[in-house]
Amino acid sequence: MMIWIATAAFGLEGLVKRELLDLGLDARPELGGVRFEGDSDKAFEANLWLRTADRVLLLTGEGQVLTFEELFQLVLSIPWEDYLPADARFPVSGHCARSQLMSVRDCQSIIKKAIVERLKKKYRRNQFEETGSIYAVSFSIHNNQAKLMLDASGDALNRRGYRTWNGEAPLRETLAAALVELSPWQPGQPLYDPCCGTGTILVEAAFRAARRAPGLKRAFAMENWQFVDVEACRAARQAAEARFDLNLVEGIGGSDVDEQALSLCKKHLQQAGLGGRVRVHQQDMRDLPPFLPNTCVIANPPYGQRLGDKKGTETLYRQMRWLDTRAGASQVCVLTANPAFERLYGRRCTKKRRLYNGRLECEYLIFA
Ligand SMILES: C[S@@+](CC[C@H](N)C(=O)[O-])C[C@H]1O[C@@H](n2cnc3c(N)ncnc32)[C@H](O)[C@@H]1O
Repeated sequence: MMIWIATAAFGLEGLVKRELLDLGLDARPELGGVRFEGDSDKAFEANLWLRTADRVLLLTGEGQVLTFEELFQLVLSIPWEDYLPADARFPVSGHCARSQLMSVRDCQSIIKKAIVERLKKKYRRNQFEETGSIYAVSFSIHNNQAKLMLDASGDALNRRGYRTWNGEAPLRETLAAALVELSPWQPGQPLYDPCCGTGTILVEAAFRAARRAPGLKRAFAMENWQFVDVEACRAARQAAEARFDLNLVEGIGGSDVDEQALSLCKKHLQQAGLGGRVRVHQQDMRDLPPFLPNTCVIANPPYGQRLGDKKGTETLYRQMRWLDTRAGASQVCVLTANPAFERLYGRRCTKKRRLYNGRLECEYLIFA
C-alpha cells in the first residue's frame, strides 16, 4: 500500500476529495491536495478519472526540516532504490513557503545530491547516466514540513490531449470540469455555453455525460515505472474505454461572437472526438433564440480585465439577464472576476463560490 497525493488548485480540494471517494478511495484533504492510499493501480485510476485534480504524486517521505543538513538526511533515509532503477531520469523540482529553507534552487541540488548518494550505495556505481524512464521528483516545504514525492502523472492532468490551440483567455480544463461539477446540471439535461470561446466547458460537460475518463487518450509517467503493475493499468484503461458512450452526449451546445475562437472550439471538439455531437455556432449571446426547455447555462464571460473594455463588459453583464428572461434558461451559472456581476445582472444568486482562474480571484455564481 502506498500513499498518494492528488494535487489541486486552491478551492478545488473538496471536489477532488469527492471524486476520489467516488473511485472508492479513502481521501483526506490537506494543504494543496488530497491524500489517499492504495496500490499503483488505484493511483492509475485516479490519473485516468480525476477531472478536477492537477497531478497525482507518490509520497516517498516527509518530515520536519529546519536546515539543509536535515533535508539531506531526510532524503537520504528514503529507500529510493525501491522506486528508481539505475538508469532512471530523476529531475527535481518543487517549492518552499513560510519555512526556514526558502531557496528552491539550493533545496533542489541538496535533494538531488542525497538521492544520488543513496543510489550510489545500492547500485555500487559513482555515476548515473539518467537515460531511462522519467521519475520526476517533486518536493514541497511548507511551514518547515518537507514532502518528497514522485510525479505519477507526467504532463499535468489538465492536458487531456484535445487542446492544441489556445484562444485569448481559455479556461483550464480542470477548472472547466469544476464549473460543470459545481453546477446544478445533470447529464441528460440540456446545457448551453453562450460565450464558449475555445469550448473547454462544452468538452468537459460532454466528457462527463459520455462517462469518458478525461485521461483516456493520454499517457501517464507511471506507466513506465518499474514497480507499477502495467497489466492492471492496461485493464483500468480498457474498463474506462468500455464505459465511454458517445451516444449519451445530447443537448450540449454553445456559441460565441468571435469567429476565431469558434474555429478553435470546433477544432477542439473534433480533437476530443465530439465533432457532430456538440453543436456550436457564431452568435452574439444577446441575440440567442429561446433555449431548449430546462436548459442550464454555464458561462465564462469576459471579465473586463483581460479582455474587452470595462464599460462594454458591464453593459454585457446587464444584458446577460436576457439569458433567463428572454431565452428561458432554467439555471444560469457564471464564472466572473467582476464583483459587480450580481448587481449588474439584477438578480441575487442562489449560491456563490470563490474560485481561482489562474491567479485571478473569481466568483462562481449560480442563479437557479
Ligand atoms: C473568457 S472567454 C471564454 C473562454 C472559454 N471558456 C474557453 O474555454 O476558451 C470569453 C468569451 O466571451 C466571448 N464573448 C464576448 N462578448 C460576447 C457576446 N456578446 N456574445 C457571445 N460571446 C461573447 C469572447 O469572444 C470570448 O471567447
